[in-house]
Amino acid sequence: MMRYSVTRLAGMIAVLVVALLTTALVLAADGPGSPEHAAAGPGVTGAELLHYILNEDPYTAWKSWPADRWNDFGDYLVGGTPHGATVRIFVNDVALEALEAEGFDGVLPYRSIIVKENFMGTVEEPGELAALTVMYKVEGYNPAAGDWFWLKASGDGSAIAAEGAVEGCMACHAQEGNADYMLRYNYGQQPAAFFGEPLPEATGAALVEYVLSTSPYTEWGSWPANDVDDFSGLLASAEPHGSTVRIFVNDRALRAIARDSFDGTLPNGSIVVKENYGGPLDAPGDLSALTIMYKVGGFNPEANDWFWVAASSDGSTLRAEGAVEGCINCHGQDGNSDYLLRYDLPQGAMAGEMMEQPAIDANALIDVRCTVCHTRERIDSASKDAAGWAATIDRMIGKGAQLSAEEREALISYLSSR
Ligand code: HEC
Ligand code: HEC
Ligand code: HEC
Repeated sequence: MMRYSVTRLAGMIAVLVVALLTTALVLAADGPGSPEHAAAGPGVTGAELLHYILNEDPYTAWKSWPADRWNDFGDYLVGGTPHGATVRIFVNDVALEALEAEGFDGVLPYRSIIVKENFMGTVEEPGELAALTVMYKVEGYNPAAGDWFWLKASGDGSAIAAEGAVEGCMACHAQEGNADYMLRYNYGQQPAAFFGEPLPEATGAALVEYVLSTSPYTEWGSWPANDVDDFSGLLASAEPHGSTVRIFVNDRALRAIARDSFDGTLPNGSIVVKENYGGPLDAPGDLSALTIMYKVGGFNPEANDWFWVAASSDGSTLRAEGAVEGCINCHGQDGNSDYLLRYDLPQGAMAGEMMEQPAIDANALIDVRCTVCHTRERIDSASKDAAGWAATIDRMIGKGAQLSAEEREALISYLSSR
């Protein structure tokens, strides 16, 4: 008997626990956040919110909005009054997940938190963190103004300057043309507060106009040099890009590469411009074409959202634009990084099927390896066919010339086709 009732009691408790759990789950699923975020957000006071973003779920480990053609949020940004000359913006997972979800309508869910760091210095040298300004969306807190709880604190969080339904924050943040009381991020639309030139629309004409006039690519930098290559000058290449190329990347791409968090995939708004020359490295001749890659969020997710353009050197003729199959097929080869073939991010090694040949600059190699014992004159004055050069080079190797098998091949073909 005793045994029976204990079992029954245990059974009843189990049923109760299941019922409670189910209720909790249903409540959570019904609630504003997704079930994974069912854990309650911070309490609705400045102190609790601060404690939460500084200690419990440190905002510095959060991400920011996805980059778009107006801003790249992953870094320091030029800020506006009253937020300091430079800002950095972080958003919690609740907000990010909502943004990335299908059918997102521009209104963030409850428990979204946006933390903005405010600095007095420049984007390059922001200086000390001067203040934290925070927006926290709390169900039913203030339906008249998007249910946002506002907070302003000192940079180290030791002092709170304002909190709650702060009139000043709301009045300014409610300006027209914004999204859900946000002034910087506007879901792909031009934000209400905007600093700097927007990136071009995804059309060949707009892109060419941008790289030739609005932000001349010749003033951009190139990939950072690695052990194997320095990308800042003319580089040997092969079909279909001409014998010689020069590659430029815009600031947005460069800044992303420099970040610790960089994972090898360039952010939206990255532009890579390649100059194509017909002639060899030492005499490239006139620029013959421009080939361009431009990453546009949502443009073509199957192939990392790159928008491709091939244009004449002055941009007057567009030879191909858009999701160009030819470009995508060759650039999508195995072992590359984000459809890039020259620079493998973040390893910095070269990749791509065609890279072995163009990687060897035969002309430069002769200067380095073949002038150890005699002058270049001696080589330049000789004229032989491939078999003749193979014999000479093998004899030189016998004397001590240092060449790999590939370099030997490259020299034979270069010297016999001069
Ligand atoms: C006079 C106008 C003004 C006032 C007042 C103001 N802000 Fe802002 N706020 C801006 C502008 C402009 C931006 C976007 C530019 C930037 O990021 O600096 C912004 C951006 C933000 C952001 C980043 C999210 C977004 O909206 O893009 C947060 C968070 C924020 N403000 C919090 C606050 C808080 C908290 C207060 C009150 C203590 C406040 N703001 C008062 C103008 C204002
Ligand atoms: C048959 C293969 C092939 C095709 C087709 C091709 N590319 Fe490339 N591309 C390469 C290789 C190999 C490199 C790296 C070597 C170099 O820089 O020349 C490269 C490099 C580039 C770069 C420099 C960034 C990088 O990937 O390293 C750009 C920009 C570029 N290509 C644009 C284009 C565009 C635009 C098209 C289509 C109109 C195109 N490519 C078609 C093989 C190809
Ligand atoms: C270790 C010293 C050494 C190095 C390195 C060297 N050579 Fe020579 N090279 C010689 C000597 C010694 C001669 C003269 C004797 C001969 O012709 O075999 C010579 C002669 C030549 C000649 C003239 C003879 C002919 O066959 O026409 C050519 C051309 C030549 N070298 C090309 C090269 C090339 C190309 C390389 C680089 C791959 C190279 N050499 C590297 C030592 C060297």
